[in-house]
Amino acid sequence: MLSISVKEFLFWKKKQLSKGGNIQSFAVLLDCIGGIPTSELNLLKINPEGKLYLKKNLDYLCSVWEDHLFNSTPIQHLCGISFWRDLKLKVTNKVLIPRPETELIVEIVFKIFGEKSQKLFFAELGTGSGAIAIALALAYPFWEGIATDIDQDALGIAIKNFKDSSEQSNLRFCCGHWWNPLESFKGKLDLAISNPPYIPRDTYEELPEEVKNFEPKIALLGGEDGLEHIREIIQKAPLYLKKKGWLILENHFDQGEEVKKLLIKNYFTSVEIVKDLSGIGRFTIGRYK
Ligand SMILES: C[S@@+](CC[C@H](N)C(=O)[O-])C[C@H]1O[C@@H](n2cnc3c(N)ncnc32)[C@H](O)[C@@H]1O
Repeated sequence: MLSISVKEFLFWKKKQLSKGGNIQSFAVLLDCIGGIPTSELNLLKINPEGKLYLKKNLDYLCSVWEDHLFNSTPIQHLCGISFWRDLKLKVTNKVLIPRPETELIVEIVFKIFGEKSQKLFFAELGTGSGAIAIALALAYPFWEGIATDIDQDALGIAIKNFKDSSEQSNLRFCCGHWWNPLESFKGKLDLAISNPPYIPRDTYEELPEEVKNFEPKIALLGGEDGLEHIREIIQKAPLYLKKKGWLILENHFDQGEEVKKLLIKNYFTSVEIVKDLSGIGRFTIGRYK
């Protein structure tokens, strides 16, 4: 551990932030690489005469920060960590960095099932870092979950994240194309969730560098119109969901109405577009008959 005066550190911090970037990303850097949790950071100004202890020196932290600023490398990749809800998840360039707006999926589940619920079966299709499935498995210890992904490397990260987050054993992981790994759950699922790749091809080509150059294409691109995967997931859902089972999908900001139509066409009821905190119809939900 390297000791440094709080005054010197605060001066350095101001200088780094003046180069660009945002305070949230800087806090992730200080927590994950510098060893200063955000709670401690917030208290520093109260005692500017004190000392603090860093895991890495300021030059090293500065070089990582500049890599983030000048090469557009996501801070989560440089730190190997993403904070999502109350989880600290390992991330690499094999998984999508879980987005803050996706956190609302867990709230939608709470709203449907209540915060305490007896045993049921759920699946998450396309789990990536495992964020959604892990949050649900931890929130509902009596539920049995299965999380799938087409990418074995992504699944390896999700498995590690689950092991590191808890000692529970109510979540399993399977590799395969959408519903295929769920043969033995046909007609048994009470709930299925997916945040599939939904970016239309022309939008994908225009994505900012920090997304397009660093995050997996397979996690983002949803075919020509963005709906290729959503269509397949909805069409096959009736085979796997129980009667009255729920399907919760995340979609692109302007796909809600189209996804709603697809659900209705496939005999879903209680179909609803749910807005995110910015008022965007980010999720579409429905019940199978
Ligand atoms: C938008 S990311 C979502 C990741 C994570 N669930 C989240 O919300 O942060 C989509 C995920 O679907 C996976 N995926 C893409 N095509 C798939 C397919 N055909 N079958 C299963 N999973 C797929 C990707 O590997 C990626 O992990």
